[in-house]
Amino acid sequence: MEVRSHFLLSITFLLVLQYTSLYMAKLTQGTVGAAQINITTDQSALLALKSHITSDPHNILVNWSTTTSICNWVGITCGARHLRVASLNLSYMGFTGTIPPHLGNLSFLVALSFNNNSFHGTLPYELSYLRRLKLVSFGYNNFVGSIPSWFGAFPKLQGFYLYGNQFSGSIPTTIFNLSTLRVIVLSGNQLSEIPQEIGFLHQLEKLYIEFNALKGHVPMVVFNMSSLTTLTLYGNSLSGGLPDNICQHHPSLEKVNLGDNQFGGPLPSKLWQCTKLLNLSLVENNFSGSIPKTIGNLTMLKGIYLNSNNFNEIPKEIGFLHQLEELYVPLNALKGPVPVAVFNMSSLTTLALYTNKLSGSLPDNICQHLPNLQMFQWKHSKKYWELNPVNHDWA
Ligand SMILES: *[C@@H]1O[C@H](CO)[C@@H](O)[C@H](O)[C@H]1NC(C)=O
Ligand SMILES: *[C@@H]1O[C@H](CO)[C@@H](O)[C@H](O)[C@H]1NC(C)=O
Ligand SMILES: *[C@@H]1O[C@H](CO)[C@@H](O)[C@H](O)[C@H]1NC(C)=O
Ligand SMILES: *[C@@H]1O[C@H](CO)[C@@H](O)[C@H](O)[C@H]1NC(C)=O
Ligand SMILES: *[C@@H]1O[C@H](CO)[C@@H](O)[C@H](O)[C@H]1NC(C)=O
Ligand SMILES: *[C@@H]1O[C@H](CO)[C@@H](O)[C@H](O)[C@H]1NC(C)=O
Ligand SMILES: *[C@@H]1O[C@H](CO)[C@@H](O)[C@H](O)[C@H]1NC(C)=O
Ligand SMILES: *[C@@H]1O[C@H](CO)[C@@H](O)[C@H](O)[C@H]1NC(C)=O
Ligand SMILES: *[C@@H]1O[C@H](CO)[C@@H](O)[C@H](O)[C@H]1NC(C)=O
Ligand SMILES: *[C@@H]1O[C@H](CO)[C@@H](O)[C@H](O)[C@H]1NC(C)=O
Ligand SMILES: *[C@@H]1O[C@H](CO)[C@@H](O)[C@H](O)[C@H]1NC(C)=O
Repeated sequence: MEVRSHFLLSITFLLVLQYTSLYMAKLTQGTVGAAQINITTDQSALLALKSHITSDPHNILVNWSTTTSICNWVGITCGARHLRVASLNLSYMGFTGTIPPHLGNLSFLVALSFNNNSFHGTLPYELSYLRRLKLVSFGYNNFVGSIPSWFGAFPKLQGFYLYGNQFSGSIPTTIFNLSTLRVIVLSGNQLSEIPQEIGFLHQLEKLYIEFNALKGHVPMVVFNMSSLTTLTLYGNSLSGGLPDNICQHHPSLEKVNLGDNQFGGPLPSKLWQCTKLLNLSLVENNFSGSIPKTIGNLTMLKGIYLNSNNFNEIPKEIGFLHQLEELYVPLNALKGPVPVAVFNMSSLTTLALYTNKLSGSLPDNICQHLPNLQMFQWKHSKKYWELNPVNHDWA
């Protein structure tokens, strides 16, 4: 009895094993329903794409010849293990055309890059079948309309690049379910809204949405995404103030560019909490008041760009920024003398202070402690002195 049940158990085990390996074999062939999907399918998908490319000024597609394996075609990389198309990179090839639904059959595709071509039309729904995709890059093409919500179907997506098209409307909330997303680049479109749900992206490091049609306030959750290192929203019509605790949940922030919007009010006094900040650009806004003294604690800063605001004071604490290379505060309401500490920042290469209400005279030995200064813009935009970097004489 015991022997028999052992025997049955092992048979069952073997059957399970066999079934599993069969299943695995089918899986690596990419079986969908009844049709077998293999490299031949990949070839037909690519040939369909070729037939949808209407202009190929550099004659690149001559290379896509059926006499050789598709794995040798320009722009194609096959996976070493399964010999299916893993990467399709047609960036910078000068193509004009549309994307056929057949690309949805490239079931082993991990990276899809079509940057800098003239693809147009709609992105077919069938692309959503590409469950292995980690990179989607359609930058600088001519796609229009809404960003399809099926972009939320890529559970492994890490990089999402749709810059330089004419996408409009909101960013579909479906993509905010993709917890693996690290980089979103939607710059240069006509998007009008950042949904609250963006706060679900707990691994997002870089968010670029400059030059779009975003309006109103930035959703507070954006200032709460602790994984962010880069936040670039310039060239929109955003407005409002920055919350005083903007940095409390942003321990990793390195680069912030909120230029050319309609933000106003004082700078957050707790700016010092963004301890990793390297580059701060808030040009062409309506910020006012003093630049907070605590900026002197952000000792990693290399660039500060505050052109065209209403700041009235540079604190002397700015002198603590021993890595600062570029300090731009022109076209503001700065009053009084420039703190002497500013003329003591040996890392500075550029100092722009023109069109303010500054008074007092410049120290005689201005260059003594500014050995790296290459450009000094003092009074008006056209009236600046360029320093000769060799002997520090006025050029
Ligand atoms: C791919 O599958 C088809 C059936 O769908 C089969 O005829 C063909 O021989 C297969 N090709 C390869 C390279 O396995
Ligand atoms: C296509 O280009 C690749 C790489 O540049 C080359 O290895 C291959 O031989 C070319 N194939 C044809 C048919 O020209
Ligand atoms: C795609 O090709 C371009 C041009 O050859 C290259 O610069 C880029 O790094 C490639 N992208 C990927 C994801 O391989
Ligand atoms: C691939 O995709 C196209 C269009 O989505 C479809 O018509 C075709 O049957 C698919 N399968 C194969 C094996 O080519
Ligand atoms: C990509 O396209 C943009 C916009 O047309 C252009 O400014 C840029 O120079 C192009 N880059 C390359 C490498 O072709
Ligand atoms: C996100 O995923 C959750 C759980 O999987 C689902 O309930 C929800 O509808 C999804 N949201 C969107 C916007 O796709
Ligand atoms: C920001 O995060 C904190 C802590 O995780 C949470 O208490 C707060 O409600 C969040 N605020 C917003 C606007 O999401
Ligand atoms: C700029 O801010 C000041 C207060 O600092 C306010 O009086 C003025 O209306 C604002 N200007 C614009 C264009 O928002
Ligand atoms: C900021 O810098 C000042 C002067 O160096 C220092 O006294 C203060 O403790 C610093 N604050 C923080 C929070 O690091
Ligand atoms: C800061 O970022 C701006 C915009 O990307 C760039 O032009 C500038 O060179 C950066 N500054 C430094 C010091 O890296
Ligand atoms: C200038 O810097 C030097 C060394 O960093 C320091 O000893 C000196 O006190 C500073 N002078 C002023 C006016 O900040």
